[in-house]
Amino acid sequence: MKNIAIFASGTGSNAKKIVAHFRDNTAINVALIVSNKPTAKVLDMANDNNIPTLIINRADFYKSTSILDDLEKYQIDFIALAGFLWLIPAYLVKAFPNKMINIHPALLPKYGGKGMYGHHVHKAVCKNKETESGITLHYVNEHYDEGNIIFQATCPIAPTDTPTDIAGNVLKLEHYYFPRILQSLLSDS
Ligand code: GAR
Repeated sequence: MKNIAIFASGTGSNAKKIVAHFRDNTAINVALIVSNKPTAKVLDMANDNNIPTLIINRADFYKSTSILDDLEKYQIDFIALAGFLWLIPAYLVKAFPNKMINIHPALLPKYGGKGMYGHHVHKAVCKNKETESGITLHYVNEHYDEGNIIFQATCPIAPTDTPTDIAGNVLKLEHYYFPRILQSLLSDS
């Protein structure tokens, strides 16, 4: 059995899709949901699905390595960042070499880096009159959005599309591909 931990700070719609995708899988299991926000909706989803949760705080995350004990306790093999906005510290990157991936709602290397998340990304893409956007799944390193790219998928942007339209189309791609790419990576490793 391979155990995944999902790190998420917000609504958790991607986390929800991943949980649903692996629900009946006998080889891959979502074993833990980690969040830095005690009020994040993703925690309700975890509770509804009887998945253990861990709430982390900034001081412990950056000044200690205590999360490694928690990840070991749940025998975590792989980490999926699904709308998790804190930079991952070096000790955690080192502990999960090529076993931690992030989803980004644009076509990296464009529209990445600190502050480029969620709606900020779609607004910038729209403002620059891009004709396409999409998703990037990449390995996580110590820098925001800079790890090796694993997979990208694109969607067209019509001249009349608003940032909200773009966000909706990108989210559809995320929901479809994130669980499937995770499955292929976990089946290969
Ligand atoms: C997703 O669109 C994800 O790509 C984005 O946050 C959203 C989380 O949505 N992540 C970033 O912008 C990271 N830079 P969700 O909570 O509904 O899954």
